[in-house]
Amino acid sequence: MDYDIKDISLASQGKKRIEWAERDMPVLAETYARFEKEQPFRDTKMSLCLHVTAETANLARALKVGGADVLLCASNPLSTQDDVAASLVQDYGIRVYAIRGEDRDTFFSHIKTAIAHQPQITMDDGADLVSTIHNEFPSELAKLWGSMEETTTGVIRLRAMAKDGALRIPVVAVNDAKTKNLFDNRYGTGQSTLDGIIRATDALIAGKNFVIAGYGWCGRGLALRARGMSAQVIVTEVDPIKALEAAMDGFRVMPMQTAAPIGDIFCTVTGNINVLTKDHFRLMKDGAVVCNSGHFDVEVNVKDLAALASSVRKDVRRFVDEYVITGEKGSARIYLLAEGRLINLAAAEGHPASVMDMSFSTQALAAEWMVKNHASLSPQVYEVDSEIELYVASLKLKTMGLGIDALTAEQKEYLASWQHGT
Ligand code: ADE
Repeated sequence: MDYDIKDISLASQGKKRIEWAERDMPVLAETYARFEKEQPFRDTKMSLCLHVTAETANLARALKVGGADVLLCASNPLSTQDDVAASLVQDYGIRVYAIRGEDRDTFFSHIKTAIAHQPQITMDDGADLVSTIHNEFPSELAKLWGSMEETTTGVIRLRAMAKDGALRIPVVAVNDAKTKNLFDNRYGTGQSTLDGIIRATDALIAGKNFVIAGYGWCGRGLALRARGMSAQVIVTEVDPIKALEAAMDGFRVMPMQTAAPIGDIFCTVTGNINVLTKDHFRLMKDGAVVCNSGHFDVEVNVKDLAALASSVRKDVRRFVDEYVITGEKGSARIYLLAEGRLINLAAAEGHPASVMDMSFSTQALAAEWMVKNHASLSPQVYEVDSEIELYVASLKLKTMGLGIDALTAEQKEYLASWQHGT
């Protein structure tokens, strides 16, 4: 079997990690058992471009046991868990092309290998696989039934392609499912981002001025968790409604220019470029910590930071680079974490398995839906079928030992009627 990973001898450690995650993924386990019986992916080739983590390993296993011929490559050069990659190859017979820290050329050569697999179904986290097929291998599009997209940034790119008339395959916006973004984006990003910042810096969060750029689901989750650890949370936004929401959720709201001299820790989660630039670095205080938890490493302008710096010390601590700049108030050390790449997967382990259980069950069931329905789909961005969301949410509740009420016949009749009033 062909593959390209760091070191196959890491497999036994990776297997333990996959099994540990599996304990916390009961909804996916139920899906695994059904897929094993029903073989929904028999004779289907799948290429997955996802973060290569223990949770993704369990998704890949569920697809494989359902009959798919699965190949996995990384959706980010810094997020691969090399031991997990090794175990997927050795213990589960899944071809993996991912090495933590791989350079850009290797990253794209792995994506090209995923395309050469000639998949009928692809899964993306950030839309790199789908956009590379469209841009460089359009002849492969004819074989492709469709794709699944895991993250906000990827869905934004795909919608832009659809708007331009450039999208040539159906895609399912898995990110937009409630069973994904309400939990993964909010509680997953909130917790794993703090986990990454703390592992990288060992900083005490209590009492810090913690500046969060962006108040989407990820920003909300991060703000909630930072407040829970007694930080003074400041939110910056461009959307008046989200800004208002942040204010009424009890956070301080201000432009980044105002927040820059105040913040101790800055984290971007906007999905946009150049959120922190030289205009802000110049104002920051000595010791400010800067990081990003958005998908691409474009939110913190690292080139600006390097251009301002009189000296740069790489790896003053694992995942921490020190930039000494001459700012408005004299010399200041600014600490950039994980080179501005997503901190939760670079310095920590990404979202916990329990929340990825919901995201990846949604993902697996959406893939099954795609296989069943591909013949009647057109090139556009589809929502996840609401039946899938209901199934995932109900089963997750059940596995958490939680029951809910059911509408009585009288309540159903009341909700369906327009005649009841004052
Ligand atoms: N995205 C965020 N956390 C993740 C994880 N643990 N596995 C895969 N993708 C992720």
